Amino acid sequence: MKTILVTGALGQIGSELVMKLRSLYGEDHVVGTDIRSNADDLGIGGGPYETLDVTDGKRFLDIGKKYRVDAVIHLAALLSAKAEAQPQRAWHLNMTGLVNGLETARELHCQFFAPSSIAAFGPSTPQDQTPQDTIQRPTTLYGVTKVSGELLCDYYYQRFGVDTRGVRFPGLISYVTPPGGGTTDYAVEIYYHAVQHKKYTSYIAAGTKMDMMYMPDALDATIQLMEADPTKLVHRNAFNISAMSFAPEDVAAAIQTRIPEFVLTYDVDPVRQRIAESWPNSIDPSCAVDEWGFRPRYDLESMTDDMLQKLRIKRGT
Ligand code: SER
Repeated sequence: MKTILVTGALGQIGSELVMKLRSLYGEDHVVGTDIRSNADDLGIGGGPYETLDVTDGKRFLDIGKKYRVDAVIHLAALLSAKAEAQPQRAWHLNMTGLVNGLETARELHCQFFAPSSIAAFGPSTPQDQTPQDTIQRPTTLYGVTKVSGELLCDYYYQRFGVDTRGVRFPGLISYVTPPGGGTTDYAVEIYYHAVQHKKYTSYIAAGTKMDMMYMPDALDATIQLMEADPTKLVHRNAFNISAMSFAPEDVAAAIQTRIPEFVLTYDVDPVRQRIAESWPNSIDPSCAVDEWGFRPRYDLESMTDDMLQKLRIKRGT
């Protein structure tokens, strides 16, 4: 990658990825784009920034041409809970945006990264150590767009030779930019509430395990896969990756060893609970390990140490 266009640059992943890419590839070589126009307020640095609604294919291509990009990292999408509330809008944004990104990559001969998700699995998928290649019959609209996206990225590689790559992200935890409208968001909120109020009410029920990862590992994985030797890649898109699997009471216990007064209660949201139950308990990342050396640095303990420390600094306490 030399000059990279990032969509969804003000989102949970994008805001941190743009900063990291700018530190590695140079500020002028990373073009941040987002549907919002207030990049300055969100602190993603002083490099190029363009307002882009990814459903506008002409503007997508024009921005790619203007900056002569050679890689597109396409992050703009609606997350699972929001998509369930607005399925038609989610299909349009997630799929039209993806097609426009792939077409831009095809025309400009770019590398292309699109994230899939643990949401690409469903209730009939093996729930523990879910294999890379297995049954995928998701029951959420978000999951349907993710499976469709995985297939479409494979198709663009096979049919047009576009260098598509991607991972299935688990829930991502970070202290920088909050996620918006996901099912795994509780695992971020719980840390903010622990630091601010010493208590949290979870909308996900006790015993509901999902895969998770700390943001620094997600950023490293994205860059590592984009820089991986293509001859080593058997799969190209939708690599299972995960760093840990936990239920709400597990993360609460990790917080309680550091903040003993912390109290976890439950008020389960049936919509997000149903989504969570349709996803695996844990996925098997061994293809990512074997094909491009995926190796996360953070587990629940080290992530909890870092999250609490960084959130205390952020709050000035
Ligand atoms: N974290 C996402 C969500 O909860 C999963 O990709 O929607």
